[in-house]
Amino acid sequence: MLKINKVDKIKGRIRVPGDKSISHRAVMLSGISKGKGIIEGFLRGEDCYRTIACFRGLGVEIEDRGSQIIVQGKGLQGLEEAKDVLDAGNSGTTMRLLSGILAGQEFLTVVTGDDSLRKRPMDRIAVPLRKMGAMIEGRDRGSLAPLVIRGGGLQGMDYTPPVSSAQVKSAVLLAGLYAKGETVVREGVTTRDHTERMLKALGANITAEKGKVSLGKSQLEGTAIQVPGDISSAAFFMAAAAAKPGSQLRIRGVGLNPTRTGIIDVLREMGAAIEIDNITESGGEAAGDIIIQGKKLRGIHITGEIIPRLIDEIPVIAVIAAMAEGKTTITGAQELKVKESNRITSMVTEMKKLGMKVEELPDGMEIEGGSTITGGRVKSYGDHRIAMAMAVAGLFARDSVKIQNSACIGVSFPDFEQTVKQVTSHGV
Ligand code: S3P
Repeated sequence: MLKINKVDKIKGRIRVPGDKSISHRAVMLSGISKGKGIIEGFLRGEDCYRTIACFRGLGVEIEDRGSQIIVQGKGLQGLEEAKDVLDAGNSGTTMRLLSGILAGQEFLTVVTGDDSLRKRPMDRIAVPLRKMGAMIEGRDRGSLAPLVIRGGGLQGMDYTPPVSSAQVKSAVLLAGLYAKGETVVREGVTTRDHTERMLKALGANITAEKGKVSLGKSQLEGTAIQVPGDISSAAFFMAAAAAKPGSQLRIRGVGLNPTRTGIIDVLREMGAAIEIDNITESGGEAAGDIIIQGKKLRGIHITGEIIPRLIDEIPVIAVIAAMAEGKTTITGAQELKVKESNRITSMVTEMKKLGMKVEELPDGMEIEGGSTITGGRVKSYGDHRIAMAMAVAGLFARDSVKIQNSACIGVSFPDFEQTVKQVTSHGV
């Protein structure tokens, strides 16, 4: 259980752990590249350890040297049949992207996950991967894990996923590495493009223009990959600092890929003062320091094209919206229902327990600002981002907030509690 008390200000200079999306891709793509992949800044969270374990299961040698993860790439054709079931744990990215790679392998693989992951929709990747020629079976007529995959003999295709999902786009592109002919993925609303950027950095024959990614016959060459800080982890501290007048926080080395920076746009629109400093670039991914000054925020309407650019940040946005002036409406976010928990229902239920005025909408929620957060016990639903969003609520609450089953935070932010102490232990 995690107990969080109110503070007056958020202050200091912090770093956040490595980007989860990029860490997964770094291990996977290095594993199917020729030569050595040297990964720095890797996220040491449960989800990414699952990706390492799955690739070890497929015969890839991966060495943990503390500051670096060294992956001895096997090349596109070098993976071996696993001797046992692969376990993706809580990680949708592991299961869905890995399935794309497995669709290209002639051997048999069974992939499973924890209670949450076994409830999440896998037909969104199984359908296109079957169209390309892979055999994929699963529970509930092939739509739920455990998945049984026998791949090979793939044909490239031109695909437009019915949902805006980087995981689906990535699964199809990764299968495309093994397909005859060109693979094209089109999307109406741009989702995170880390797969495309990393494939390019590793030498793939890939071109991306607005709304369309094309991949031809490719070879991948292992290289050094610098993982920036995860803006989705930084978001908890950005939001808390932004909503507390008098706060002053610098978060160093955060990934600033434009497909991920919706949180900055939203906080600015709500009235926060945010600056970016020390911008660097590595492997096609920008990073920099984010500097936040706390202000009184105002409610806004969040919908449309921005949603995929802040999908994982909506839980914490909902919390600070309760502290803002006026109403905040979030719509077009139905994808939240199929995350690690149903994040609309989880957030609305737990926010209400703490006295916040919030109503569930079919595709989002409506939050009335100016709430007094009372405090008390809340549930995490085993969902790391719900647990951390509730911790942020605790920083504003009259009485302490106790988050039950908070160990799930280790999925993406193992040092979360320490980082909270770092920004709050300035004598309040
Ligand atoms: C991710 C994509 C997003 C995001 C998830 C990580 C990725 O999911 O919510 O946390 O690494 O590609 P969807 O692509 O399913 O929207």
